[in-house]
Amino acid sequence: MAVHQAEHPTDQRAAALRDSPFLRACRREPVDRTPVWYMRQAGRALPEYLRVREGVPMLEACRRPDLITEITLQPVRRYGVDAAIFFSDIVVPLKAVGVDLDIKPGVGPVIAEPVRDEAAVRAIRALTPDDVPYVAEAVRNLAGELGATPLIGFAGAPFTLASYLIEGGPSKGHDRTKAMMYGRPDLWAALMETLTDLTLAFLRVQVEAGASAIQLFDSWVGAVSPIDYRTSVLPYSRRILDEIGELGVPRIHFGVGAGELLGQMSEAGADVVGVDWRVPLDVAAKRVGPGKALQGNLDPATLFTPWSVIESRTRLVLDNAKAAEGHIFNLGHGVQPRTDPDVLTRLTEFVHEQTAK
Ligand code: CP3
Repeated sequence: MAVHQAEHPTDQRAAALRDSPFLRACRREPVDRTPVWYMRQAGRALPEYLRVREGVPMLEACRRPDLITEITLQPVRRYGVDAAIFFSDIVVPLKAVGVDLDIKPGVGPVIAEPVRDEAAVRAIRALTPDDVPYVAEAVRNLAGELGATPLIGFAGAPFTLASYLIEGGPSKGHDRTKAMMYGRPDLWAALMETLTDLTLAFLRVQVEAGASAIQLFDSWVGAVSPIDYRTSVLPYSRRILDEIGELGVPRIHFGVGAGELLGQMSEAGADVVGVDWRVPLDVAAKRVGPGKALQGNLDPATLFTPWSVIESRTRLVLDNAKAAEGHIFNLGHGVQPRTDPDVLTRLTEFVHEQTAK
């Protein structure tokens, strides 16, 4: 008896996944409800996260497929979100090629020897899939566990990675980073090329193992002026988005404080532009132009207010999002550690109800 192709469980999963609200919204297709996920949805807001992380340093957790899988699934189970984001960190590929760094709780990534000359740039070697076997293994596990829920792979964009490497850790003004960009354009270009290759290799591992979309986090790019963005940042982010585009997965591009850069970030080639809370989505839609979906942008601080305030501000986000060709609901930046998880569950339900067709 002939069995129709689509009845095969793997094909059924692929079809359901392709038709998931998240992936449909990325492609700007009609959805029966607005998809929701939250940046930093895995992490310290969740008691079950704190339990499994007890006694395990962050970077060790990022190398254990069992922990990666469990932590990635936790927010999907609890919040009912429409996508999972791979549990890792933007500095994991740097660590994997031998950069001496750590993630300090409450601080962030700290680099033992900041990168400030030719020799330090040359010392950052290329990433191969063999450097991160735990990433491919965890993505494969997750693709099996998640069924029709898409998994978002991610990486830090070259500017944001460069800032950590040059400053040696988190920075307010990014002064040394900009000083290299302005004063040593040759060295800057060499570092950005190296980081572009590293980011591409890290994203490729995730997509080839089964991630359904990727997000490029350029968290600190808001420090850069539009003129400098064009010459010193855009070409690298564009190369990443172009080359990942060849793998056929939707690409999300996100920066914080990047309102003045939205037009150029759109030019860089993503399918979806992530918007922080500073720019209303109807204004962002104009800056980004046609042919793009938007993601965002409830201020994460809203989650510390009474529910009536959260509700009215969420309605405003959804209302402004009507100007976009496609919308993925998210916060304007990551979930803050002290956020009440029940509020995120309720928010997910609220967005689904409000947007149900
Ligand atoms: O979003 C998710 O749930 C997936 C996992 C994820 C983490 N980091 C886990 C993490 C993602 C997507 C990131 C990306 C990341 N890491 C970015 C870009 C996103 C953004 O927030 O702008 C940046 C800038 C980093 C660098 C970094 N790593 C910072 C600033 C911190 C926080 C330091 C702190 O403790 O306040 C980290 C550590 C980190 N990455 C944690 C988690 C869950 C906390 C570690 C812990 O639990 O001790």
